[in-house]
Amino acid sequence: MNLFDLNKVAQAMVAPGKGLLAADESTGTIKKRFDAIKVESTEESRRDYREMLFRSKDAMSKCISGVILYDETIWQKAKDGTPLVKLIEQAGAIPGIKVDEGTQPLPGCPGELVTVGLDKLAARLADYYKQGARFAKWRAVIDIGKDIPSMTAIHVNAHALARYAALCQAAQIVPIVEPEVLMDGDHDIDRCYDVTKRVLNKVFQELRIQRVALEGMILKPNMVISGKKCPKQAPVQEVAEKTIRLLKECAPAAVPGIAFLSGGQDDEEATAHLDAMNRIGGLPWKLTFSYGRALQAAPQKAWSGKSENVPAGQQAFSHRALMNSLATKGEWKA
Ligand code: 13P
Repeated sequence: MNLFDLNKVAQAMVAPGKGLLAADESTGTIKKRFDAIKVESTEESRRDYREMLFRSKDAMSKCISGVILYDETIWQKAKDGTPLVKLIEQAGAIPGIKVDEGTQPLPGCPGELVTVGLDKLAARLADYYKQGARFAKWRAVIDIGKDIPSMTAIHVNAHALARYAALCQAAQIVPIVEPEVLMDGDHDIDRCYDVTKRVLNKVFQELRIQRVALEGMILKPNMVISGKKCPKQAPVQEVAEKTIRLLKECAPAAVPGIAFLSGGQDDEEATAHLDAMNRIGGLPWKLTFSYGRALQAAPQKAWSGKSENVPAGQQAFSHRALMNSLATKGEWKA
């Protein structure tokens, strides 16, 4: 492992004014998104849609540091034969790859999941590196509910995240370590704080045990936020302050950057939260976005599968990318 180079890539992923586009929806997930805009999900329509995003020149060169791809996409070519990876590189962004293989029920822990995909990961990482990937993503999912999460679920998911991160660094790929505490329940913001704290503490403990170099990784956490169904929704400033307080408790300063997931927040809300956090200032790490839905909901709607809507889709994407870019500097205005 060359830590100097890993750190350089990690720094570039969180360069000032830039953040990550999570375009790594699995075939099942992108089908759900396309169903919502009444577009049939085929290899070609998925390619056309993602080509539209990656050819959004302004957004890609000024606001997006890297793109997380799904396996299908990293091998695909644009309509004119240019590999999609090349389009990303030509815009000055870094190609990345989702490498987890989704979740499975965790035995003995009803309702809880463990992320899988470690078998053969070393060989897959070597192939992805050859294909241009310089960073990777693995997402663990922790649900909040009655009597969950269990210690077991937190432990096995943290262990797998660290196994993945160590394998990435050995393959000269920067790991995005993503332990997502879901915002689906009716829990309040303080319960989210407590659970996320347990999760992040365990994740960093495992990362240390497995000798992952913190300077060569990016953390992708959820924000500390009220559950979607909680009757009392914490305001933006409270989300910002509690998220920062938690990260200061749990995330070592050696980590170059923290790139949040949007997790089902609506797009402007995700921007407002990031902006409020960056206005607090004086932070040891860069704080940016690694949004999927919060960057793509608008362009998906504008595009709706029609080639004549490509400019409108690109404009919608560029607008959200610019708003989030401003938020990384605490300069966004509603
Ligand atoms: P969302 O921003 O839609 O949560 O997606 C980010 C991501 O990569 C989830 O793994």
